[in-house]
Amino acid sequence: MKDFRQMKQRGEKITALTAYDYPTARLLDESGIDIILVGDSVGMVVLGYQDTTRVTLEEMLHHTRAAARGVKQALLVADMPIHSYNAPEQAVETAKRLVDAGAQAVKLEGGASHVAQIEAITEAGITFMAHIGMLPQSVREEGGYRVKGRTQSEAETLLADAHAVEKAGAFSVVLEIVLADVAKQITNAIDIPTIGIGSGEHCDGQILVTHDLIGLFPWFTPKFVSPEARVSEEIRRAARAFIEKTRSGGKI
Ligand code: KIV
Repeated sequence: MKDFRQMKQRGEKITALTAYDYPTARLLDESGIDIILVGDSVGMVVLGYQDTTRVTLEEMLHHTRAAARGVKQALLVADMPIHSYNAPEQAVETAKRLVDAGAQAVKLEGGASHVAQIEAITEAGITFMAHIGMLPQSVREEGGYRVKGRTQSEAETLLADAHAVEKAGAFSVVLEIVLADVAKQITNAIDIPTIGIGSGEHCDGQILVTHDLIGLFPWFTPKFVSPEARVSEEIRRAARAFIEKTRSGGKI
């Protein structure tokens, strides 16, 4: 495993993208990405659910196995889905199953509220990535995807969360849709790297959902993403060409 703390100290940015299948994981790995996340965003961009709250552990295990077959050099992190870490014992059991499926680290959503689960996981010798800020598994209670850290009290809570997960043994922490200034403050306050998504450029690294980056989920793109490709247009173009050629009796 790369030394991500040292990367932070050296000011070397950490790169992370999601993958849920063998070809994508292999392509990202061959591109030199540092971290591949089998995110529970698989529920939205692959399985067609409205949000991540329906993703099951069986689904995460299935996609983790597939992605693991394609990864040689990146750190493969798997998301623990909702309801799979309600208590410390359950969290360790879930983390072990994901590791058996090929993950080298696991991630769950929550800060100070989940210290018992995080400590149980790290004490079991499993590498752990934290996730604070906007927590997609709580989107229904929250009533939407909202920027975090706008108020003084929210910023203080986020800072306390970051310190709590660092103390509990996390090797890094994802900051999701956190106000850029607050993300910067957190990044300067802790020794483990912050990996931002929609949280400004001051984080120690950046993560995106690959489908957003490559334009493979054209029906919704988060405001903070500037796609680098339009893969959905290529798929439509190729499919239309195939349909046309087949219907006209042309050579495929
Ligand atoms: O599920 C996911 O893809 C994630 C990233 C957005 C950080 O958790």
